Amino acid sequence: MKKIINDLSVYISGNNESKTMLFVHGFPFDHTMWQTQVDEFSKDFKCVSYDIRGLGESPAGDGQFTMESFVDDLEAILNELKLNRPILCGLSMGGYISLRALERIQEKFSAAILCDTKSEADNNEGKLKRAAGIKRINKEGLAPFAKDFITNCFGEDFRQNKKINFERIIAKSSQFNPVGVKGSLLAMLSRSDTTMNLGKINIPTLLICGEQDTLTPQSIMKDMFHKINKADFVEVPNAGHMTPIENPQLVNKAIRDFLIKNKL
Ligand code: MLT
Repeated sequence: MKKIINDLSVYISGNNESKTMLFVHGFPFDHTMWQTQVDEFSKDFKCVSYDIRGLGESPAGDGQFTMESFVDDLEAILNELKLNRPILCGLSMGGYISLRALERIQEKFSAAILCDTKSEADNNEGKLKRAAGIKRINKEGLAPFAKDFITNCFGEDFRQNKKINFERIIAKSSQFNPVGVKGSLLAMLSRSDTTMNLGKINIPTLLICGEQDTLTPQSIMKDMFHKINKADFVEVPNAGHMTPIENPQLVNKAIRDFLIKNKL
C-alpha cells in the first residue's frame, strides 16, 4: 500500500498488527533499494519504506534540505503511522538520517540496523567533492554524475554479473529530479558529526558492512561497533557499499539472526 505522508511517498506492507521495520534508503536511490528485505521480512513484520524528500517519487520542492529536515520527515512518518518503537534500518545516507534520529529521538526506536554508513561528518575533501558533484550536475545534467557515483557504490561482481540490474538502477536514478539530488548532496555536506552519541546508543544495534565497501569501509564501521554498547558487526563478503542489493541472502540472514537474538 502506498500512502502520502508530509508529501512523501511511503510504502507499507506485511502484517499491520506486527512490530514495524522502518527502512531508510541511501543516496541517490529510492525505497526499492530495500525490496528484497521488505519481501522477506513482511512475512513476519510490518515493513515501512519511503522515498526520501527529493529522491524517487518524493517531491524536491525548493531542494533546501538538511539532515535535520530529513529526520523531521522520518518523525512525521512515525507519528502519522503511530509506529510503536519500530526497528530502524538505514543504509549510508539513510544511516546518517538514522544516526541523527538516534541522537534526537532514540526512545522512539527499539533497535537499529545500520548498513554501510558512518557517524563522521564530511571532512574538507569530502565537502569539496560534494560541491564538485553539484557543479557537474549543473553543467552536464544528472546522468553522468549518477552513473559515476553509482558505479563506485557497487562491487566488481555485481557490476559484471548483474549488469542488467546495475544498469537499471543507474537509469532509474538518472531520471530523478536534479534539484532533489543536489539538495541531498547539500544535506550530507552540512550534516553534523554523530560520533559523540555512539556511546549513548543503548538499543540493540546491528552494523553491516560490505567487504569491498570503499565509501564507508570496514575500518570505519568497526570503530563505530566498538563505541556502541549493544552492537553486533557483520561483514558481508562479495559486496561493496550496497550490501542489501549485492548480497541479499547474507544480509537477510544477518538481520534475521539479530532479530532472533534480541527477541524482536
Ligand atoms: C549513500 O549511499 O547514501 C552515499 O554513498 C552516502 C555518501 O555519499 O556519503
